[in-house]
Amino acid sequence: MPKAKAHEIYGMPSEEYLRQWRKWILLLSCTFVAGVTLLAYNADKSPSTTLADGSSRSRFQHPLFNAQSVLSQCAALKATVGPPDSFFARTVSDRFVPGTNSTLIRNANIWTGARNGTETVVGDVLLENGIVKGIGYIPESSLADARNLTVVEADGAWVTPGLVDLHSHLGLIAAPFMVFDANSPNGPILPWLRSIDGFETHDEAIQTAIAGGITTAQILPGSGNAIGGQAFMIKLRKTKERSPTAMLLEPPNTLNGSEPDHDQPLRWRHLKQACGENLNRYGTRMDTMWAFRSAYETARKIKRSQDDFCMKAEAGLWNELQDQSYPESLQWEMLVDVLRGRVRIANHCYEAVDMDDIVRLSNEFQFHVASFHHAPEAWLIPDVLKRMHGGPPAVAVFASNFRYKREAFRGSVFGPRVLADNNIEVVMKSDHPAMNGRYLMYEAQQAHYYGLPAHLALSSVTITPAHSAGMAHRVGSLREGVDADVVLWDSHPLRLGATPRQVWIDGIPQLVAPPSKLVGKPKTSQALQKAPHAPKWDNEREEALEWEGLPPLQAKKLEKGVIVLKNVRQVWTRGELGLQERWSARPGQEGGIVVLQNGAVTCVGRDDGGCYDVFDDVQRLTIDLHGGSMGPGLMSFGSPLGIEEIAGEISTMDGPLYNPFSRNVPTIVGDPGGMVRAVDALQFQTRNALIAHRAGVTYATSSPAKSNFLFGPESIISGLATTFRTGAAHALDTNAIVKDITALHIQIAHPAPYIAAMPPVSVSTQIAALRRLLLDAEDPKSDTGKYFKKAAEGSIPLIVQVDNADIMATLLNLKSDIEEQRGSRMQLVFAGAAEAHLLASQIGKAKVGVILTTPRPFPAPWDSRRTLLGPPLTNDTAIFKLINNDVTVAIGCIEAWQAAHARFDAGWAALEASDRIDEQQTYAMVTTNLEKLLGMEGWIGEEGDLVVYDGGSPFDFESKVIAIASPRRGVVELL
Ligand SMILES: *[C@@H]1O[C@H](CO)[C@@H](O)[C@H](O)[C@H]1NC(C)=O
Ligand SMILES: *[C@@H]1O[C@H](CO)[C@@H](O)[C@H](O)[C@H]1NC(C)=O
Ligand SMILES: *[C@@H]1O[C@H](CO)[C@@H](O)[C@H](O)[C@H]1NC(C)=O
Repeated sequence: MPKAKAHEIYGMPSEEYLRQWRKWILLLSCTFVAGVTLLAYNADKSPSTTLADGSSRSRFQHPLFNAQSVLSQCAALKATVGPPDSFFARTVSDRFVPGTNSTLIRNANIWTGARNGTETVVGDVLLENGIVKGIGYIPESSLADARNLTVVEADGAWVTPGLVDLHSHLGLIAAPFMVFDANSPNGPILPWLRSIDGFETHDEAIQTAIAGGITTAQILPGSGNAIGGQAFMIKLRKTKERSPTAMLLEPPNTLNGSEPDHDQPLRWRHLKQACGENLNRYGTRMDTMWAFRSAYETARKIKRSQDDFCMKAEAGLWNELQDQSYPESLQWEMLVDVLRGRVRIANHCYEAVDMDDIVRLSNEFQFHVASFHHAPEAWLIPDVLKRMHGGPPAVAVFASNFRYKREAFRGSVFGPRVLADNNIEVVMKSDHPAMNGRYLMYEAQQAHYYGLPAHLALSSVTITPAHSAGMAHRVGSLREGVDADVVLWDSHPLRLGATPRQVWIDGIPQLVAPPSKLVGKPKTSQALQKAPHAPKWDNEREEALEWEGLPPLQAKKLEKGVIVLKNVRQVWTRGELGLQERWSARPGQEGGIVVLQNGAVTCVGRDDGGCYDVFDDVQRLTIDLHGGSMGPGLMSFGSPLGIEEIAGEISTMDGPLYNPFSRNVPTIVGDPGGMVRAVDALQFQTRNALIAHRAGVTYATSSPAKSNFLFGPESIISGLATTFRTGAAHALDTNAIVKDITALHIQIAHPAPYIAAMPPVSVSTQIAALRRLLLDAEDPKSDTGKYFKKAAEGSIPLIVQVDNADIMATLLNLKSDIEEQRGSRMQLVFAGAAEAHLLASQIGKAKVGVILTTPRPFPAPWDSRRTLLGPPLTNDTAIFKLINNDVTVAIGCIEAWQAAHARFDAGWAALEASDRIDEQQTYAMVTTNLEKLLGMEGWIGEEGDLVVYDGGSPFDFESKVIAIASPRRGVVELL
């Protein structure tokens, strides 16, 4: 069953699209059958137009050829790949832009990437002629020659190499989204395609990626084909020439057909392969592997005939070569180069079965795959990886983005650590725009949080991907002679929210600071300059392995008795006056204690015996929190959490909504709008919900609203949202459904850029319908009439999923019209709201709330293109600007797996705003503000869940949720 998936780039059409385009798809399948036939034919006969073998000899009449040129062509078959020795003596980069100033970054903590990432140097970095000229102690004498030296004072801040994103579709799916040049529909085997041919240099995400410290990326074709085409390494900086060609890093000679200099080693080439369910448009897994084998067999035959030809030429058997030309094929030369060991293959592969297939293929045809990508099961099969011909591949993974399709169900946050424990190279990648490439370092931070040692976490986005792509001689590390690609960070790069203060590519600074403003976060705390102390996850990791990625997620134990939490630094609770800090240890003071009984807090304070007196004779469980904290359970909003198990599998979700704009709602529903209730579709104990629960997100509000960043919303009227407890066993469990009908949820957007999930409906039509419904035009006996009436009267919140500021302005006008006509006061909330900052004061005055479901900016869809980009590009963030205009702001998310990140999202927002958002506001964005906007005030209250964090505050990478206390249920869940 085809479906729209948001997480990877292969242009799989949505269900609705398929309905409309069934004929086209059918046509495509026919083309495929024809394609396979052709391929089989070619495999049998070899590409006879160019290949000289027995059967086609008569067609090649080359009476005379230049023996010298044949011999040199044959000699070239033995060429090695990699940088020439002379490379390391270079004093100027081939990418140097004349006129670029030299730069001295002074007094930095430099993470060099050397010694497997364990080396750090305290000192200076000198950038000159596009390369790193010196590192560490730089004598005055070497500065004397430096032309136009710019000195940057680092003041002890961290410096790393520029980041390398091994898996990016930058330029192929360009922001704002309109171009989709990632996948060809022309067959499973397309080694002759080149990603650079579709690279859109105006992609706005190039600049935002630089702002995240990315300096080099591998531009991969999508994964809709088994062999999707050749990939290219690019440098992200703008060039004077403004061409994709000028951005290429060490383009192979084959790119422009020029003859390589036979005295020099060759440059690495790159290729994208994919397998698994993405290929099901071309048949089954069995078909995919046959397509691979027949393609490589074609290449192998060509390679053999080349080798035979050259053996004869080199032996001087010219007579035998009389009427032959050198066997070659423009179509298959890439795969021949693969077999000659000249290509770094990036292979999209998810499951054990797929990686096993590719490892078998690599051994059958004797070639190496440099990296498996996504590979959510790689951590479970180290022995399979080690069987790869030529040694194990690097494994390029997401940190926590799993369960979006069946193949990714067993992905684990502990994967990177397990791979590293098995001596497999770990790469963190973005798959931009599946994930915003700007936040590549966040992936490394999470990998570190879940157990990957700091040196490997930093390596995973620098030297390891550079090495895997054959580019380690110039990017991914800092030492004399490498490219001058450097990031100066505002805090330790593995800290939550770490942001570049400056990024250099080829020695050229990329971030232009407005002169009067300090761009970046003034993170004064010295603690932020140290790597975070990650929690221990040994038990969880072992359990995850034991259960092959699907460990039980329920609490280990429910405790009703007395629990004493000691060494607690901070306690937040919901009190009568809302969220309040109940207790905190002053700096230098010892941690305090919290006593819990029947899940409720009975005593909080200093560890001076006062609290113990009450329980002198009672048996109690004491837990040391190591400076940890306790606070209210968080809430998630905006994703299908609790309504689906796997986003890409229709059998695990509620299913498609009837969209009254595109087709009639069946009469059996008896309602023109087809108003549905999320509460009717709730599924409990989904893995995303339980993982969110274990991350302190104990409540969630979900609606049937579905949207996809490529395909747009599925239905304009999304139905009625519901609020539930993420850890509940089933709908009838205690307090499982916190509020059955929370809010009316609709979505208004410009038509989706690519394949619309529904036939496009104009914004003016959407607004006209909304106006009509809010003006009480629908029969109030229908659910549609009833709930829009309530929304117009303000007795239920109306959540409008909207990103575009112009649509928001229209909605603000509509709101005041309705209120004037009806004498009401609506509870309007904008969710999504990427461009809300443009109307911050008007939204504030209209008392409209905002839930940012993409809390960190992503300017890709047209409706979101004016999102406020935040540090280091702008001083302000959308969140700060809205709060500053008295808007009630909350944070949500779009996809169910993201719900577990609520505390990091809130913590990040606070860090970005520097000291301008306090801890109460940080908590409120993921608790009480959401409750207020969703009409939930008083529904959770003092009896609500409390989350216990070991090791730190909820809003950093040092703490870990170890228990959840529920006064309402009278228990403490020990996780
Ligand atoms: C030094 O900087 C000036 C002003 O930007 C520029 O005109 C000049 O070409 C630079 N000199 C060198 C040697 O790069
Ligand atoms: C780096 O790690 C690899 C694999 O663990 C090891 O073989 C090698 O000796 C290490 N190199 C250094 C310089 O520590
Ligand atoms: C380069 O150096 C020159 C001379 O020191 C200075 O005037 C100019 O502003 C510098 N340019 C940049 C981009 O830093």
